[in-house]
Amino acid sequence: MAISFTNSIFTLEAGTSMYRIGIHPSGVLIHLYWGRKIVIEQPERLLHVRERAFSPAYRDYGADVSLDSLPQEYPTKGIGDFRDPAIEVVCKDGSNILELTYHSHRIMAGKPALAGLPATYIEHEDEADTLEIDLHDQRTSIVVTLRYTAYRERNVVTRSAIIKNNGNTPVSLRRALSSSIDFYDQTFKLIHLSGTWSRERSLAFETLGSGVFSIESTRGTSSHQANPFLALASPDVGEEHGEVFATNLVYSGNFVFRVKKNAVGGARFIAGINPDTFGWKLNPGENFVTPEAIHVYSSSGLTAMTHTFHDLYRERLCRGEYRDRERPILVNNWEATYFSFDRATLLRLSSVAAQLGLELFVLDDGWFGSRDDDKQSLGDWVANEKKLAGTLKSLATEVQQAGVKFGLWVEPEMVSPNSDLFRAHPEWCLQVPGAYKTESRNQLVLDLSRADVCAYLVQVLSNLFESAPISYVKWDMNRSLTNVWSELLPADQQNEVGHRYVLGLYSVLEQLTTKFPQILFEGCSGGGGRFDPGMLHYTPQIWASDNTDAISRLNIQFGTSFIYPPSAMTAHVSAVPNHQVHRITSMQCRGDVAMAGNFGYELDLTKLSDDECREITSQVESYKQLRHLVQFGHFYRLITPAFDSSDSAAWCYVAPDKTRAYATFVQIFAVSNSPLRRLKLRGLLPSGRYSLVGTDLRFSGEELMFVGIEIQELKGDYQTQTFEFRLMADA
Ligand code: DGJ
Repeated sequence: MAISFTNSIFTLEAGTSMYRIGIHPSGVLIHLYWGRKIVIEQPERLLHVRERAFSPAYRDYGADVSLDSLPQEYPTKGIGDFRDPAIEVVCKDGSNILELTYHSHRIMAGKPALAGLPATYIEHEDEADTLEIDLHDQRTSIVVTLRYTAYRERNVVTRSAIIKNNGNTPVSLRRALSSSIDFYDQTFKLIHLSGTWSRERSLAFETLGSGVFSIESTRGTSSHQANPFLALASPDVGEEHGEVFATNLVYSGNFVFRVKKNAVGGARFIAGINPDTFGWKLNPGENFVTPEAIHVYSSSGLTAMTHTFHDLYRERLCRGEYRDRERPILVNNWEATYFSFDRATLLRLSSVAAQLGLELFVLDDGWFGSRDDDKQSLGDWVANEKKLAGTLKSLATEVQQAGVKFGLWVEPEMVSPNSDLFRAHPEWCLQVPGAYKTESRNQLVLDLSRADVCAYLVQVLSNLFESAPISYVKWDMNRSLTNVWSELLPADQQNEVGHRYVLGLYSVLEQLTTKFPQILFEGCSGGGGRFDPGMLHYTPQIWASDNTDAISRLNIQFGTSFIYPPSAMTAHVSAVPNHQVHRITSMQCRGDVAMAGNFGYELDLTKLSDDECREITSQVESYKQLRHLVQFGHFYRLITPAFDSSDSAAWCYVAPDKTRAYATFVQIFAVSNSPLRRLKLRGLLPSGRYSLVGTDLRFSGEELMFVGIEIQELKGDYQTQTFEFRLMADA
């Protein structure tokens, strides 16, 4: 068992980390410790916090016991703690105070599922243990069950809260967060991923100052602008040193993460559904389940944090037939044709793709209804047989006969005002009666908080997926939510719509991915606008960004790599000048950068020169050789442009048994009279002897890691050099 309970103290051991919770004599649940595994001689001493002026006493436990200074696990508001609460419940009489104290607990092997929500899981009971602590509020009969799971072999503790109304009258949840941790320190570097459309998940480093540090989304999705991830790290943090306390929320809607220093020398961290856009009516007997927060601890810097997330997500968050399978190399017709294509164009593209060794052809937007631009037909998921010169099935079959599998783009959560679906069901979109319906990309959002809309989507998409041999589906979502109001809910429940939308989406995805296990689903939201662990539970890969420029992608891919594994991150070679930034880079550069993830192409393969075709054939062959290493190996950042250098980037993959490694160096900008540069690898067997593939050169592992390999003089901007190493048999 990774969880024990002695002398009112719970100890959770997760890999080499430890999380401790105490029950204060008052019954308040105290945060005692999170960090490396250590012995604490008298942990009960940590329950004591010295008296502070203006901190209200807690009941009659003495002036030195104040909720305002006790480090807590699930704080409430209004009875003495002036810091951020984890929960707020409003009763019929308008009161909103809650006094949660320990009632009982259970420790069990395994990890229960979270009803209706995506979460990490186990395959064998001995992988993890779970602790459930019931906290009661006597006045309202609200019961909060805090659920903690400790993975035995991973530095991972997951948390969620289940809030139950055991009273006789409905109450209103205004805030129901997944996690709250009171750190004893307040000197932290904060690491998060921020951005905007086409610049998603750029690394951001801040220093925790005074006031509030907060990242959030209010867009209805996790968003391009922020990612539900935040790491608090020691000021000296680097790839291989420093402590890191990282959290990622398994949620695809509005979220908030906040950190605030307090007067007792610590900092409170909270994470969960964004209370600004949330509310929930909890009737007697009902439960509310919060999304799962994943907490990862590293005592040895950012790489260890990254590896913990990558392994967990690859092995115990993603699901389905493709979880452990190498992903196909695809060509997507979006940047090749946009909306202008006909059957002949698509067949030419797929047959050239097959000749070049690609494995999957994806038909993107524009194949249905009368959609020749983005102004209509979303919602009408019926093939435009005129444009396709036949049925979808006949096209998919012909594509397959050309030698590649067939994949299809859909954007099911949307409806165009100019569509048969909207004309038949104008009430099915998010809208406020009498108010202007805000459009974005000429489209409205279907009200997925409605069960009938979700049932319709499952039906119509099932019909579509059964209508043709479809091996892959790209699930897109191209706008943020506005006019968030639902016809079926009463006024006092309208603030539930945002969360109900996310639950509706998850239920549709759950049903479809269960019904069509053979389909590889790829998530997308105008690129990476919903690149989060919630979506990864259903779609084991996600389109990282609409920005396909190799150089812009460096920042996006490096940021993404902090949490999400390369198998989850799709990356394509596109045409030059690049369509988003108009940059010209070589085919080699584009290929080497896209091969850092789940590889494919997004350009008109029928318009290539013979040389380019040869280059692509060789890239495809190389990726097939490297694919297992890239998608299932360990990823190391060697030179991160955002904080190591502005003129180069480098990374490598190392096989788990260290027998193979592959490194890529990118010279972003040429440097005059450039110094001798050596690339130092990481993660190799120090005593191993490695050969550089394609040469007679031999190196010891430690030589590659501590001396490095020389980078040849690269002429010009945007040049790359790659290295493949094999461990020699006599090592
Ligand atoms: C946004 C996606 O990110 C693109 O790849 C493409 O599928 C378009 N939508 C199609 O409308």
